[in-house]
Amino acid sequence: MRPIRIRTKTEEASAVYFPRDALRALKKYAGDSALIFTDENVFRLYGERMRESLPGAKIHVMPAGEAHKVPETLGGLLQAMAEAELTRASALVAVGGGVVGDLGGLAAALYMRGIRCIQVPTTLLAQVDSSVGGKTAVDFCGVKNLIGAFRQPEAVLVDGAFLQTLPAREILCGAGEIVKYAALDGALFDLLRERREDLCDSSFLSSVVPRCIAFKAEIVRRDPQESGLRRCLNLGHTTGHAIELSHPELSHGACVLYGILYESALAKRYLQCDEEYLSRLEALCKRALSAHAPGIDAAACARLARLDKKNRSAEQIAAVVPVRKGEFALLELAYEEYAHALNQIGEITC
Ligand SMILES: NC(=O)c1ccc[n+]([C@@H]2O[C@H](COP(=O)([O-])OP(=O)(O)OC[C@H]3O[C@@H](n4cnc5c(N)ncnc54)[C@H](O)[C@@H]3O)[C@@H](O)[C@H]2O)c1
Ligand SMILES: [Zn+2]
Repeated sequence: MRPIRIRTKTEEASAVYFPRDALRALKKYAGDSALIFTDENVFRLYGERMRESLPGAKIHVMPAGEAHKVPETLGGLLQAMAEAELTRASALVAVGGGVVGDLGGLAAALYMRGIRCIQVPTTLLAQVDSSVGGKTAVDFCGVKNLIGAFRQPEAVLVDGAFLQTLPAREILCGAGEIVKYAALDGALFDLLRERREDLCDSSFLSSVVPRCIAFKAEIVRRDPQESGLRRCLNLGHTTGHAIELSHPELSHGACVLYGILYESALAKRYLQCDEEYLSRLEALCKRALSAHAPGIDAAACARLARLDKKNRSAEQIAAVVPVRKGEFALLELAYEEYAHALNQIGEITC
């Protein structure tokens, strides 16, 4: 498959490659001096192969999970980079999900004011979303992604084989983002509808990853620092983040799917939209969620959505919502109105 090249206005070049074996391909992209950064789960599964792929490189392993996406872990990684005597010409290779990618990307942006970063995303979410676009971050003071930087990785190596070891919960997590892309990209919507029986099938989902990346790459090229258009990638996320806070047992992708369901209902209520299309989009979300369908506490979500950082003021809720095939709109509502509407929409069951 041909690489997808991203050249942003700042001329920072980045490319996404689809090698048959990403770890094997590392030698070509990482160069002679590199440090591999990964988490304990990925290391357990692929550590041996990492060693074989870059025999001279040190491997720094972090504990798995969002709870460790914090400055302390970043500090540990920067120390390992210094101890490995990385130079400006060296590369940091981040092999893992979005947590490893966000942390590794930030460390590469900071060390010596920026060294090369190679991303090898191993979760569906990281392949379809977090490894592409140059957003890096750690959580701080209990706030997600409070400290970070925009910096494009030099290369992203996407390899669907990693998904074979990924638990179903993590597949659903990526599927949520894929359905989000379908709400933005009409052709992808048609394809997912046609293949709706396969929405939980990792090889089908893997086959649409390049299309999702190409879509995101084009948005990032036009708006690298999220000053306007890039906000469309937050479709479903305003209510989705609120659901994530009130239902921590759900994966991010599942929350995004519920977020799209609520925001589609809001679009029907407040905007001129294609209701038939929205009902089809809702059916896709429900199919992807299938077995994972707890009741959602709409009142708690409304309260928490008030805290979303995309809102210009706490009295106003801003959400990118689907309206027609391939079309979205920014819906801004007074908080009271939004809370009232969510309560009226009530519990959504699949
Ligand atoms: N930078 C961005 O633009 C962006 C976009 C979306 C999300 N994110 C961030 O991404 C993070 C979430 O990423 P995630 O969902 O990949 O979570 P994650 O990195 O925590 O990975 C999920 C779990 O899967 C395990 N894992 C990873 N690859 C595996 C494999 N191939 N086989 C088996 N297990 C594997 C991990 O060890 C972890 O336990 C969040 O911190 C979020 O803020 C960033
Ligand atoms: Zn997301």
